[in-house]
Amino acid sequence: MEDIRILAIESSCDETAAAVVRNGREVLSNVISSQIRLHTLYGGVVPEIASRKHIEKIDPVIRMALEEAGTSLEELSAVAVTCGPGLVGALLVGVAEAKAIAYARKLPLIGVHHIEGHIAANYIEHPELEPPFLCEVISGGHTHLVIVQKDGELEILGRTRDDAAGEAFDKVARAIGLGYPGGPKIEKAAQKGDPEAIRFPRTHIREAGRDSHNYARGSQKTGPYDFSFSGLKSAVLNYLNTCRMAGTDWKQEDVAASFQAAVIEDLVETAMRAARRYDIHKFAIAGGVASNGTLRRAMQKACEENGLTFYYPSPIFCTDNAAMIGVAAFEAYRQKRFSGWDLNAVPNLPLGEKILCQKIQR
Ligand code: KG4
Ligand code: ZN
Repeated sequence: MEDIRILAIESSCDETAAAVVRNGREVLSNVISSQIRLHTLYGGVVPEIASRKHIEKIDPVIRMALEEAGTSLEELSAVAVTCGPGLVGALLVGVAEAKAIAYARKLPLIGVHHIEGHIAANYIEHPELEPPFLCEVISGGHTHLVIVQKDGELEILGRTRDDAAGEAFDKVARAIGLGYPGGPKIEKAAQKGDPEAIRFPRTHIREAGRDSHNYARGSQKTGPYDFSFSGLKSAVLNYLNTCRMAGTDWKQEDVAASFQAAVIEDLVETAMRAARRYDIHKFAIAGGVASNGTLRRAMQKACEENGLTFYYPSPIFCTDNAAMIGVAAFEAYRQKRFSGWDLNAVPNLPLGEKILCQKIQR
């Protein structure tokens, strides 16, 4: 029985996280030190503060992850780390730390794409999940619809043309006085609101005659499975302004519920349309917004209606964590796709990019 233990590190935004994952599926520990309270003071993540906090926290977080996993440095098989996309200063802390441990212990180093980590979070509680499947990655910085192909390669069907879904949650939350972090606060307020109180616009992007096979790297091509959330955000702001100018009251809970309903409808509709078009019967969600309970119920219902098996990670594996990075790294470990010592933090690392696999360090 193999016993491959990967120490994984994640520091791309405002969580300092470390985990030990055995054989690519079993999470032995998953430690997350959140900076949310600190950034709340400023209404959003302050990159410089995030980097400094990561430096303070990274050693104790890793020590705790090893301790909780009952694993010593000698027992590790590899060190994995998020190398992009994210805040450059924040990413650099994790990358430098991972390199130092790997170099000192003579272990392979594996750079992991953050979004591939989010997708891999689905394997933790569904070890039976096998590609191909459709996956909607819905986070604060990204909204992507991809097919995870049999060989693990990603076929990108669509992505946001402007704001990410989580970004829209955060901006609308700020506009209606809920503050940071927007997603969970909107979800909570929406529970007391009427999702049909205000009819905000839905942005179903369907361009006749166009299809979106594999976006070329860095391409600006657009397609029928793209998303757009900035129009919806503007509609909310316009609604608030109109109410203010007319001197009429608006209800925070109703705006939250109506906005959330519009986002969810777009996310569900686009995913189901792609599943039908590509005749896929397995659908997974990932990323911070995927922890939203109303969204999960809507997706579950749509999947039942469309004959799809629905997969979703527990909320703790939806938002940023290192366990997902350890899971994503396992396949690279098996194929000996290791990173070189020149592994760097790449803030805008494109999805599907091969991460410095060509230089084997040993
Ligand atoms: O995946 P994640 O932790 O970080 C990124 O990679 O971006 O996602 C963070 C995003 C934030 O925009 C946050 O507001 C959103 O996920 N989020 C939620 C919920 N929890 C977190 N959005 C909607 N409902 C939630 N319950
Ligand atoms: Zn993330």
